[in-house]
Amino acid sequence: MQGKTKTLGEFIIENQAEFQYSTGELSKLINAIRLAAKVVNHEVNKAGLIDILGAAGETNVQGESQQKLDVLANEKFIQTLKNREIVCGIASEEEEDYISINSLDENHQNKYVVLIDPLDGSSNIDVNVSVGTIFSIYRRLTPSGTPVTLDDFLQPGVNQVAAGYIIYGTSTMLVYTTGHGVNGFTLNPAIGTFYLSHPNMQFPETGKIYSVNEGNYIHFPQGVKDYIKYCQMEEGDRPYTSRYIGSLVSDFHRNMIKGGIYMYPKSSVNSNGKLRLLYECNPMAFLAEQAGGKASDGYGRIMEIQPTELHQRVPFFCGSRKMVEKAESFMARQR
Ligand code: AHG
Ligand code: MN
Ligand code: MN
Repeated sequence: MQGKTKTLGEFIIENQAEFQYSTGELSKLINAIRLAAKVVNHEVNKAGLIDILGAAGETNVQGESQQKLDVLANEKFIQTLKNREIVCGIASEEEEDYISINSLDENHQNKYVVLIDPLDGSSNIDVNVSVGTIFSIYRRLTPSGTPVTLDDFLQPGVNQVAAGYIIYGTSTMLVYTTGHGVNGFTLNPAIGTFYLSHPNMQFPETGKIYSVNEGNYIHFPQGVKDYIKYCQMEEGDRPYTSRYIGSLVSDFHRNMIKGGIYMYPKSSVNSNGKLRLLYECNPMAFLAEQAGGKASDGYGRIMEIQPTELHQRVPFFCGSRKMVEKAESFMARQR
């Protein structure tokens, strides 16, 4: 088990040469995310102990009630990235507009923008169930030395240079890709160090788990209804098992390890589903593809969608390749 003695810090340094034109900036950025993850982990872990539970009394840009930890996680990630002056812009689920970072040192010309879902699955906080953080990193399109623009954030997922998530679960893990496979690191909370515990993570090409909020069944498109019935049918390796945590990060993480499909389809009440393209679906799609899985809006590849809005929503089907292809085939019949 030699791999288990490698820390995330060591791994980042060893793999820096993989990036084209690498100046160490992306490594520093991932290091900053590692640090923010530890801070947020600390807050999440003590959530039940102090007066931090419950709604903060504010609503975010999506009109959803913000949990206190949403606000806190948002602040911690933004502050950590801002303080280190390693990105030129940040967009977050919890902020209506993107944040432009003006470096104090004008010669310090940062290349990267980051998009985050600071706390994913936040409705799970009050009931002690796993939550996560999702991040997505792009190289800016506009020239260095000028302020970032919305276009720097509205890039298709195929342009991502790195993406990942932190899962605050039975143990805390940081899982990320820079386009060279997916690696998972587990936090040893006693010493605050992430260790490489899951090298080269791979989605099984098929699986037996489907994850969808079936409470919305009557509102789903016919193709989704038919696929769900297919999953439940007694034939071959079916019926499949239904597992839905209500935290994309946690459902994705389980499905990547065990084999499965996650779905948040459009419905008669949400014409584009619920999940956000830029800081939920694209990073998960990049991870899925890098792990041999697949991510689709039901008809085509998530990462090829040209975004038009920061908080845009999109239907999402993601997981083991054969399962996503099967779901797509049901969608195609009902087009
Ligand atoms: P967030 O907590 O960042 O708002 O995201 C919650 C998302 C996703 O993680 C989860 O799978 C989905 O919303 C759950 O939605 P439903 O409660 O509608 O099933
Ligand atoms: Mn989310
Ligand atoms: Mn969130």
